[in-house]
Amino acid sequence: MRRFFYFKLLFMAIMLLVGTDAVATNKTLTRNGQPACESFNDNWRFCRYGLQPDGGRIDEPKGLEKPAFDDSRWRKLELPHDWAIEGPFRIELAGEMGKLPYKAIGWYRKNFTLDKSDAGRRIYIDFDGAMCYTEVWVNGTFVGEWPYGYNSFRFDLTPYVKFGEDNLIAVKLNTEKFDSRWYSGAGIYRNVWLTKTEQVHVGHWGTFVTTPEVSTVAAKVNVETTIENHTSVVKTVSVETSIYVLDADDRLRGRAARLENKEVAVRANGSMKVNIGGEIKSPKLWEVDSPNRYAAVTRLYTDGKLIDEYRTAFGVRTIEFTARDGFKLNGKVTVIKGTCNHHDLGALGAAFNLSALKRQFRILREMGDNALRCSHNPPAPEFLHLADKMGFLVMDEAFDAWAAGKRKSDYARMYEQWHEKDLKAMIHRDRNHPCVVLWSIGNEVIEQRGVEITKHLADIARREDSTRPLTAGYNDPDGARDVGAPLSLDVMGINYFYGGQERFEKDPRYKDMPTLCAETSSQVSTRGFYTFNYDRDALQNYQISSYDYRHKGQLNTGWMCPPDAMFRMFEEKPHLMGEFVWTGFDYLGEPTPYNSDETVLTNYRHDKAKQAEVAKELEELRKKTPPSRSSYFGIVDLAGFPKDRYYLYQSHWRPDYPMAHILPHWTWPERVGQKVPVHVYTSGDEAELFLNGKSLGRKKKVARQDYRLVWHDVAYEPGEIKVVAYKDGKEWATAVQRTALEAATLQLSADRNKITCDGKDLAFITLKVCDAQGTLVPRSDATVKFSVEGPAEIIATDNGDATSFESFQSPQRKAFNGMALAIVRTKKGETGTIRVKAESNGLQAGEVIIKSRK
Ligand code: GAL
Repeated sequence: MRRFFYFKLLFMAIMLLVGTDAVATNKTLTRNGQPACESFNDNWRFCRYGLQPDGGRIDEPKGLEKPAFDDSRWRKLELPHDWAIEGPFRIELAGEMGKLPYKAIGWYRKNFTLDKSDAGRRIYIDFDGAMCYTEVWVNGTFVGEWPYGYNSFRFDLTPYVKFGEDNLIAVKLNTEKFDSRWYSGAGIYRNVWLTKTEQVHVGHWGTFVTTPEVSTVAAKVNVETTIENHTSVVKTVSVETSIYVLDADDRLRGRAARLENKEVAVRANGSMKVNIGGEIKSPKLWEVDSPNRYAAVTRLYTDGKLIDEYRTAFGVRTIEFTARDGFKLNGKVTVIKGTCNHHDLGALGAAFNLSALKRQFRILREMGDNALRCSHNPPAPEFLHLADKMGFLVMDEAFDAWAAGKRKSDYARMYEQWHEKDLKAMIHRDRNHPCVVLWSIGNEVIEQRGVEITKHLADIARREDSTRPLTAGYNDPDGARDVGAPLSLDVMGINYFYGGQERFEKDPRYKDMPTLCAETSSQVSTRGFYTFNYDRDALQNYQISSYDYRHKGQLNTGWMCPPDAMFRMFEEKPHLMGEFVWTGFDYLGEPTPYNSDETVLTNYRHDKAKQAEVAKELEELRKKTPPSRSSYFGIVDLAGFPKDRYYLYQSHWRPDYPMAHILPHWTWPERVGQKVPVHVYTSGDEAELFLNGKSLGRKKKVARQDYRLVWHDVAYEPGEIKVVAYKDGKEWATAVQRTALEAATLQLSADRNKITCDGKDLAFITLKVCDAQGTLVPRSDATVKFSVEGPAEIIATDNGDATSFESFQSPQRKAFNGMALAIVRTKKGETGTIRVKAESNGLQAGEVIIKSRK
């Protein structure tokens, strides 16, 4: 008895320390806010029909959806899966799609059993995204379809499944019918979930939490809940909602508010919306630097019995886009320091992986990035979940095309039948995320001057969520504004073309409409690559100099401008709010300026002369069949290694972070005595450059004009080039580049030294080819073989070279400008030490140790 008393005391003490209440002992927040939701990713079988990786064709037999079909020879795999990333690269395939053989008809099948005890419940399948033209059958019967590959969707499997017996789900995807301006990936490339509920339950994405009034004293909260009743009788349901503080690990911490209870009668085979209001006292606001979140926990009861519990993560914050003062978060002017990004994860292709996304977000945040534009489609749901947790502002975008396509078979093919459902799906799924501050209904669509169609889409979006402003990305902003098309939106989003801005700021129709630089810069470069006589050398090997100037003689990108030009513009026009740079990361496809497709023409849609000029260049380029298969736009390369430009953004976006960066590298044996321009990026305001200890002078930035310090005429001599940066006259930061000797060793480092043994967690291993002193050998292309010992496997390698045709799955890879990457994945349930090794002929091998743990 006494022991029990002490035990109870101890338990109470722990509960007090942890600060949780009874609910917090439940599972943490699970997918879609639904505790009754389980992963449906394992034990699938896959077969590729239609176009094959080598360009051949295998016709699709009939009856693949039938349970009796023998799929035992199909490949076994776990989702998410992207069949296109498996390659091989083929020179004749389109650069814009990464020269990867994505076109095919993919079939997936899975056998599954539902417990007898689930009989009488409803069974839903939730796809986070499948590329594309998804069709689903269960036990041989057609269930439904969803063509757009970027949206999440649900099917109700209840009428088709059997309980206590084997079921067969078959999924057909078809990318042969789909063209894109960038690499889309192919397959069930995001997570799939099985959700089980009672017959009366909260609907799909069935809550909408808003905070109509917010102050530091209190926030009014409204939770709109959609309740579905799948029975043939009216159901009296009592709805109970509480608000909890949500911690960084998605655990519920103390209750922040209990909302009023409501009892409603939901009609037979019907649904209804219930609005419940309440107040959070002294709310902790969602901020970029402290992204505080809450969770609304909605519980449904019938006859006093709990029948559903649904959790919705949300944040309390106010947003305001103004024409005069820019963007305000919680009343404070906040400059948008953002990047646009496509959805692929480099060498992993489009197959979603949370560790890979986290790494991307960490790299961007370190640069000072506080905003993300999901270009040009809705992201994986985890993207927004992570953006909520890390405090990124998100522009969530629906489409790259409306009814008029940019490619033969893009979204335009689906538009008429699907645009309303797609727009609604994006908004319903994403409207509780505090990170989402803007809905974009389209990017550079052909119908930018379409008044009716813009209004039509804006009306749909506003009907589904009136709490966030609407925008779109215009590369014909003046033409569109002249005819008044953007007037049905709230924020004018401009891509690149700011020429008419002043005129429209005086136009009575637009003077109160805020303008956002929705897409900027499009600077192109190759990590670690420099040319000195414009781009002649670069053109020969399809790389681009990393001085990040506007290079004379460079192909096609007439709309491009270096980061400095944008910084300068914002100094003059701070009311333009900031920018979404094209792009944070390099991505597969669209290798401008070495792409051989029409992308570059679309930016000159209304300038016939320029179009003709570019078309001619394009024709010449096509004759050469460039090998480029991924972009050069990234501030960070495809492997996740920052280019020089990264430090230019960091110097400007994080003015209080002491840093300095020198380019180029300092290993130029062929240039002794010749000029090598040296650029310095620093958050300081002044710097002195030293070559082998000799001062080359001190330079000061002219405010609002200089964002880099440049020593144009440094005569190269081997040794050490060093910069000492100053801020307000005080030493602030230093950086050094040293001449490398012969390559001698391989150095490995891991982004994380402890990873989880869930069969999904990844470690990203960076390889550097170094000389005996540890200096990077900046032009090494040593062939490296990666291997692993212990409970993990190498699933991909990369080096950031946009022209490499080496398979991403190969454990062997050439270093590119001295660096390479290996991606290591844990094995499910296996803990222990993982040794990753890199070997190359004549060089000392490298090794790094990581731990796989529970
Ligand atoms: C923009 C377009 C992007 C990308 C970029 C390249 O016009 O919106 O998707 O193509 O150009 O500079």
